[in-house]
Amino acid sequence: MKYYIQTLGCAMNYSDSERVAALLEKMGYDRTSVAEETDLYIFNTCSIRQKGEDRVFGYLKNIIEWKKKNPRLLVGLTGCMVRRTSSKNSEKKDQDELIKKLKPLDFTFRITEAQKLGEVLEEVRPGLEIPELKEAGLSDYLRIRPKYTSSFQAYVPIQIGCDKYCTYCIVPYARGREKSRPMEEILAECKTLVENGCKEITLGGQNVNAYGKSVFDKQSGKFGQNEDPFITLLREVDKLKALGLKRLRFTSPHPRHFTDELIELHTQLETLVNHIHLPVQAGDDAILKKMNRQYTVDEYRRIWKKIKKVLPGGSFTTDIIVGFCGETEQQFEGTRRLYEEIEWDMAYLARYSPRRGTTSFAAWEDDVSREEKARRWHVLNEVLERCSIRYNESLIGKTLEVLVEKYNEETGECEGKSRENIVVQFPGNPDMIGELVESKITKALTWSVKGAEVGI
Ligand code: SAH
Ligand code: SF4
Ligand code: F3S
Repeated sequence: MKYYIQTLGCAMNYSDSERVAALLEKMGYDRTSVAEETDLYIFNTCSIRQKGEDRVFGYLKNIIEWKKKNPRLLVGLTGCMVRRTSSKNSEKKDQDELIKKLKPLDFTFRITEAQKLGEVLEEVRPGLEIPELKEAGLSDYLRIRPKYTSSFQAYVPIQIGCDKYCTYCIVPYARGREKSRPMEEILAECKTLVENGCKEITLGGQNVNAYGKSVFDKQSGKFGQNEDPFITLLREVDKLKALGLKRLRFTSPHPRHFTDELIELHTQLETLVNHIHLPVQAGDDAILKKMNRQYTVDEYRRIWKKIKKVLPGGSFTTDIIVGFCGETEQQFEGTRRLYEEIEWDMAYLARYSPRRGTTSFAAWEDDVSREEKARRWHVLNEVLERCSIRYNESLIGKTLEVLVEKYNEETGECEGKSRENIVVQFPGNPDMIGELVESKITKALTWSVKGAEVGI
């Protein structure tokens, strides 16, 4: 029997899919990369914007056709769109709303209840032989050992949920309250990874630098009172350099907890990269307040200045939302001017998408028109392109260390990322995949740079 997982959304979802894949393989399923020939199709969904949900509805239309050809095909949904673990055979009152709404769906499962996957599969297909899973009794799905997609790069979740409640954001509702994973467990996962050849680890969470500081974490008493648990964790993971770890990243931090100590740590830990991604969301204090971001433009600016001073050659990136409820032309101008001032090297620009269940959805009208959101997005994107190419040009003549991710047979080029998280392409060979190769940068493009190979 074959399985196929379609993942949408953030790195956390891709990591969750690795855990689901591990469970399915323990049940005897084999992975296929051909969606049409699968017996089990799982969507790992994202709700951050309407666009992501619409994509799932689009895919499900195709699946109606596939089900006609292959009546054995089972279709399940997990990730941020799901509220309940249930199946089409569950009692109506226990069913997730999506089961009632979407015909081709056989079951849904909350990702934090991934261990129940066997049970829901049995409910929709009685007689399906599902072996007793060792993990089934686990109280925490993060203890499922993932089937990692890469042998040299890994994303390790260190926290689930989010307690920040930014007014536009669905994550606290989709992912629940913020809880940090015990440090010993994270370190054990990282150690096994590095012993098996992993060179780059990304520690992940929605509020990653608040690791060990949520209400739940404090009540648990597991994360100490004095030292910042996130700093301790970074120091501990860095020690894995003795076993072969080369790079340590984290995503996404929140400005509220971005301390000077954390900035300075970047120069003290050998593996911690010189790239910081720090979402700003808006460049206007009134909008930031309305978004419940809990910082001002000046507070963000102070962090940026400190980062520039401590990590002068590093890269600095962000996330921005345009067209939030009530955002005036003048307030948007504030964001544009802040972009011109800070010159982020890269940014993810989003148009505000109202999400049912959030504060902004209930409290304010989505009153910036589609056209105006698009215009603001394009204005900002122009500044972004300019800043991105300027940063890439500053790399010309420098030798960057690239962790090679792929090889393109047609062009004969390898592609990977530098410590600054810049995509580098250079002439190479397929044996370089998974290796750290030095490349001297010769050309800057908007979203990547070209280089010559120097050596391993
Ligand atoms: N925890 C991270 C980001 C998580 S979501 C943080 O606090 O920054 C990733 C990005 O999606 C956000 O940074 C934001 O820019 C965008 N986003 C979240 N909700 C959105 C919404 N309702 N409409 C448009 N963009 C949104
Ligand atoms: Fe969403 Fe804000 Fe939490 Fe980020 S910090 S996940 S934007 S609520
Ligand atoms: Fe999307 Fe959920 Fe991540 S809403 S961005 S998949 S946490």
